[in-house]
Amino acid sequence: MAERKPVHVTEAELEEQRQYALEVRSLPQRPETYFIVTYGCQMNAHDSELLAGMLRDMGMSEAPDRENADFVLFNTCCVRDNAERRALGNVTWLKEVRKKNPRLMIGVCGCMIQQPGMAETILKQYRFIDLAFGTANLYRLPELMYRALNTDRAVVEVEERDVIAEELPVQRLRNDAAYITIMYGCDNFCSYCIVPYVRGRERSREPEAILEEAKRLRDSGVKEIMLLGQNVNSYGKSLETPVTFAELLRRLDALDIPRIRFMTSHPKDLSDELIAVMAESKHILPQFHLPVQHGNNEILQRMNRRYTRERYLERVEKLREAIPGIGLTTDIIVGFPGETEKQFQDTLSLVREVGYDSAFTFIYSPRKGTKAADMPDQISEDVATDRIKRLIAAQEEGQRKAQSRFLGQEEEVLVEGLSRRSDTAVSGHGRHGISITLPGSEADIGKIVRVRITGMKNNTLTGERID
Ligand code: SAH
Ligand code: SF4
Ligand code: F3S
Repeated sequence: MAERKPVHVTEAELEEQRQYALEVRSLPQRPETYFIVTYGCQMNAHDSELLAGMLRDMGMSEAPDRENADFVLFNTCCVRDNAERRALGNVTWLKEVRKKNPRLMIGVCGCMIQQPGMAETILKQYRFIDLAFGTANLYRLPELMYRALNTDRAVVEVEERDVIAEELPVQRLRNDAAYITIMYGCDNFCSYCIVPYVRGRERSREPEAILEEAKRLRDSGVKEIMLLGQNVNSYGKSLETPVTFAELLRRLDALDIPRIRFMTSHPKDLSDELIAVMAESKHILPQFHLPVQHGNNEILQRMNRRYTRERYLERVEKLREAIPGIGLTTDIIVGFPGETEKQFQDTLSLVREVGYDSAFTFIYSPRKGTKAADMPDQISEDVATDRIKRLIAAQEEGQRKAQSRFLGQEEEVLVEGLSRRSDTAVSGHGRHGISITLPGSEADIGKIVRVRITGMKNNTLTGERID
């Protein structure tokens, strides 16, 4: 793929969009309320916060649910086939809702739209869509909305630019914890993955812009920041004056925000410097999401992951030595083309050897345009389903063993909300990244509470308060 330089959106371009937002505000036919349906990863979740910020600036308020919104926007994901199907299924369902509310506008954006030819295909199949735009066009929503409101035809805009847009309006989901995107795109081209094609080349935000955003969040009372990127460990390489991720973390740690987390890390770029910074830091949480994807070296090579099982295990050991008790989580794919039973066994044994606190497990899903989609020996659904079941069983067993290390220990929980199972209990995440339920009420939401861990249930720990 040809070299592409990141494009910084200029202040003049942003001002133009602010003007469009004001124009939309004064249009009588504009939607009053919006609802954004978000699929996919945290990147998309944060993009939806930016989209919501722009819609708010256009004078719209959030509807309680999509049935009651005048504008429904689907922020899509295409990392696996089922993510795509779910998004389109819901778009079709809205067609019915529209019969009741003729004013209803429907928009589709996000990664799915960024695939070659996809926007056109979708619009042909789903003629009731008013607006479609790619990830690179997100900051232009006010102008696109303005155009959509002034025409009967669908407005479509998909570009292949590697955009960095600072200072966009934002409507955050939570007051106590916030996402900060530190880099965009991905250059790794793992052979199964569509992300580099739909999110463009890897590019990092300037450290000063990130620190500014973090300071503002701290001053507004945010207790936890989550740094986002497809491969945060390679942060800073694309900058004119390169800065390592470890250095960025060191500077963020000095801001005294109570909790700092990040995701996702790539094992090949996990440096000793980063481990050292984590071990010395005051605020970086002792948790690490380190996707392994597979336990067999030949498969790892065909996945283009650029590390071996041995190297991965060495990194895990180093993390555990430097940060005792660290919470470890991972992503795993089963049924990659050509995966033999014996090779799959290597994934099982790796899961048992590491003992993860939790793992996201996926059946390989061929993505058009990626290398793996053209590889021979695609695995049948039956075989893949059987393997994922066995993998989940092994993981659950390992998880119980791993999490028992917390029994009797003290933990700090940032309370996120009422527990789903009881109204006298609340839940949140501990410093190690594990979900914890404790006695409490609505008044605890957004607070950091000390607990002693007393039990384990399914994927969560339970605790008693020791205020
Ligand atoms: N950048 C992150 C995660 C990207 S997508 C990383 O490198 O880890 C999240 C997870 O989806 C991946 O870790 C992988 O396990 C899974 N995934 C990606 N493409 C997939 C595909 N085609 N089929 C099944 N799982 C996939
Ligand atoms: Fe996809 Fe690999 Fe990039 Fe992660 S590192 S987004 S799995 S290509
Ligand atoms: Fe999906 Fe795009 Fe994230 S494809 S996983 S929403 S980067």
